[in-house]
Amino acid sequence: MKFIVLTLFKEMFDPFVNTSIIKRAIEKGIVSIDVVDIRSFTKDKHNRVDFPPYGGGSGMIMSAEPLGAAIDFAIDSLKDDGYYEILYMSPRGKVLNYNLAKEISSKKCNYIIICGHYEGIDERIIDEYNVKEISIGDYVLTGGELACQVLMDSVIRLLPGAISEDSLTEESHTNNLLEYPQYTKPYEFRGRKVPEILLSGHHKNIAEYRKQEAIRITKKFRPELIDKKIDNNDSK
Ligand SMILES: C[S@@+](CC[C@H](N)C(=O)[O-])C[C@H]1O[C@@H](n2cnc3c(N)ncnc32)[C@H](O)[C@@H]1O
Repeated sequence: MKFIVLTLFKEMFDPFVNTSIIKRAIEKGIVSIDVVDIRSFTKDKHNRVDFPPYGGGSGMIMSAEPLGAAIDFAIDSLKDDGYYEILYMSPRGKVLNYNLAKEISSKKCNYIIICGHYEGIDERIIDEYNVKEISIGDYVLTGGELACQVLMDSVIRLLPGAISEDSLTEESHTNNLLEYPQYTKPYEFRGRKVPEILLSGHHKNIAEYRKQEAIRITKKFRPELIDKKIDNNDSK
């Protein structure tokens, strides 16, 4: 899977592509992430990429000209790689959750992701390129860069080979359950011991204990997920 990220702040992606699981996924060839500076496409003599909104109002809007040229460049770089979609990180978009991350990771598709900044982008980009908008939650960030990293991270870890299959199957939000509590060494921490059953070596009992704990934790923190799970099972 290929991601081409369009941003005014390329440097914000340096730690993302150079750390941990994402770095390894890139090294293994599971994913590629190209980060493109929208400013390099401006024809403005002062290198400007944003202007005040027509009709007045506060802040600046990212101009359609350099952004359109950056998108055309990205489309051209993907021309031999099959299907692609253009996404815009936006507080008004479809809210990211596990199912959406799964859907994006499962498609045979490459993605061009636009990161907005200031007051956002000229609306005509959305119409011209049939852009899909994705939000990472009902709040407003300064820019789309962190949102884009959240989206890519949630998608990349679901790509085959990025992390072990076992880690994925019992993770929070798979099957509409949150993960059971986890423990590691030392056995005793400030008088608190690891539950004895986890030391028993009895895999079936441990699996059942963890399942019950996952249900308990989900009921405690996100009871609405349990209702969804019951609905899904009923409809099968
Ligand atoms: C300050 S915001 C613009 C907010 C916009 N004026 C509005 O009221 O909807 C700047 C950029 O941050 C990004 N952004 C902000 N909040 C976001 C969110 N919840 N999810 C995804 N991207 C977000 C978008 O790319 C947006 O263009």
